[in-house]
Amino acid sequence: MCEKCKGNYYITTPIYYPSAKLHIGHAYCTVATDAMARFKRLQGYHVKFLTGTDEHGQKIEDKAKAAGVTPQQFVDDIVLGERGVLDLWKLMNISYDRFIRTTDDYHVEAIQKIFKRMYDNGDIYKGKYVGKYCKPCESFWTDAQLVDGKCPDCGGEVQEAEEEAYFFRLSKYADRVQDLLENTDFLEPRSRVSEMVNNFIKPGLEDLCVSRTSFTWGVPVDFDPGHVVYVWIDALFNYMTALGFENDKYHDLEDFWPADVHFIGKEIVRFHSIIWPAMLMSLNLPLPKKVFGHGWLLLDGGKMSKSKGNVVDPYILAERFGVDALRFFLLRSFPFGSDGNFSNELLINTINVDLANDLGNLVSRTVAMALKYFGEALPAQQQENPELDAELLAMASGLRDRYEEQMEKFAFQNALAEIFKVISRANKYIDENAPWVLAKEEENKPRLARVLYNLLETVRICAGLLTPFMPDTAAEISRRLGGAPMDWDSLNKFGVLPADVAAVSGPALFPRIDMEKELAALEELSKPKSTIEIEPYTEESVDFDTFCKNELRAVKVKSCENVKKSDKLLCFTLDDGTGTDRQILSGIAKFYKPEELVGKTLVAITNLPPRKMMGKPSCGMLLSAVHKDKGEEKLQLIMLDDSIPAGAKLC
Ligand code: MSP
Repeated sequence: MCEKCKGNYYITTPIYYPSAKLHIGHAYCTVATDAMARFKRLQGYHVKFLTGTDEHGQKIEDKAKAAGVTPQQFVDDIVLGERGVLDLWKLMNISYDRFIRTTDDYHVEAIQKIFKRMYDNGDIYKGKYVGKYCKPCESFWTDAQLVDGKCPDCGGEVQEAEEEAYFFRLSKYADRVQDLLENTDFLEPRSRVSEMVNNFIKPGLEDLCVSRTSFTWGVPVDFDPGHVVYVWIDALFNYMTALGFENDKYHDLEDFWPADVHFIGKEIVRFHSIIWPAMLMSLNLPLPKKVFGHGWLLLDGGKMSKSKGNVVDPYILAERFGVDALRFFLLRSFPFGSDGNFSNELLINTINVDLANDLGNLVSRTVAMALKYFGEALPAQQQENPELDAELLAMASGLRDRYEEQMEKFAFQNALAEIFKVISRANKYIDENAPWVLAKEEENKPRLARVLYNLLETVRICAGLLTPFMPDTAAEISRRLGGAPMDWDSLNKFGVLPADVAAVSGPALFPRIDMEKELAALEELSKPKSTIEIEPYTEESVDFDTFCKNELRAVKVKSCENVKKSDKLLCFTLDDGTGTDRQILSGIAKFYKPEELVGKTLVAITNLPPRKMMGKPSCGMLLSAVHKDKGEEKLQLIMLDDSIPAGAKLC
């Protein structure tokens, strides 16, 4: 630790799954962590801010397969590619000190050593896993934990799972973890404690399955080929491997472990407040000082997710409103520990009221008046009026302490509310003192100078404390106040600016946004660029042997007719190369006239069990391509070159 520092401070975000591009919900936690890290730096701490990506697991393996690339290529694209994770953090001005990827060699090797250590100390043992698995959440569940037979986290379908696996003796640590949760401030907000204890610990904490054999994209268990380490073990230990635990890449463990706080979303509190401390206990390692489970940013009352198609693109918002306004909005509008409803109206309204009206106006009016009435610099001769000044001075000089108290509790919304009370008070102070009236009489100039000085000084303190939220704006305001100091020690003192401060003009910091026009523009941008809609891809994989059982054959249409009393069905008589006609019924009457299909070479699946449709047997299925255009269903039969003989097998 450096001599001048107040101490070391280690703060982390969750490491993100690069299974799809990140959205504003992901940015929420990272912006909050960034604000906290910047706040601690401002206070004088030596901060280590860690973020990264959690790149293993079956979901990634499946998605890569569906995209026709290797899992490594798939994650590289989302992490390093254009508008990927790194680009997003750059855009959002995230001041992380270290970025870990769980596919980094040093991390993989460290995880193998950690797994072996727990195996050697007897806390990991080999057994057989029989239970339920939720693929999207990468979580195992016992029947008792399911809610209506579905995953208790995401509400999705779970699959039966049975395989030889390693287990972690989570049950052994149940009492110690319960004590940690109930009798310390380890987990916040407190409301999350009872949820963990009542839902997970009291019903009986079972040992946790910590290896898989049904896929390969993970950290291999080096002493038992075929097993890969459960993705959450791999992920949770990132907080320590990124400091050099069980590796030589970094050497910061002594300085920064235990972490001061892990910021995480509420759905992963279970992993961080039960499994994580239990594993650290197993290795006799110090526990992080705090885990804070923040709420979700909701859209239309539900969590944002790619699969629901209700994600909000942070690039669009940052491009239209500016990064600082977006960062500010996220932390000003929602209490960090609770869920918040995102809407474009709320975003625009917050920018207009707080930033354009209150802060922006205060800065521009104050600077403009200083320049208009005194030119380059304020005169040193100034006249105080304790009666008119006392309240503003007291509020501004006491602001840092009130703000600090809230920031230490991660109550970002309240910390910002404290700042905006002072900003409002300063705007009122302008009206009370009416500088434009004072300016009319030469003899009032010393008083006018003092009024403007008080305003500039108030702006300095407010902007300094806004630095963690809006770093670029704070720097710009400092410039407009003639390079005003905004270091921590200066922010609880009134009278730091020199009396002859020279203000500098500039354009409006936050121009007012026309709500109606902007909403219409955002609506337009959110419309899909293409009018074509295709069926979403399934995440379920089919093994090769099962797929090969489908018999796909070329068939020639000998005749085709509408089925009586059905406006959907066409009845095909087909030559399938066997010498016996094959009849297939297909619900495509609204797309084709029967006569236009005679003589065509189509593709049929021929080994489906026959079934009756409108009383007629149908022996197989014809393949077609389907999509929607402007909401309208489109269908085309797959047609082959007519030189392909009837019965040719497709493989
Ligand atoms: N990979 C795990 C974390 C491992 S940490 C050892 C993970 N990744 S994630 O990409 O799915 O989510 C990362 C974080 O983003 C989580 O904390 C999650 O709560 C947060 N958010 C994702 N969508 C969100 C909202 N709509 N609102 C707020 N935060 C949400 O979980």
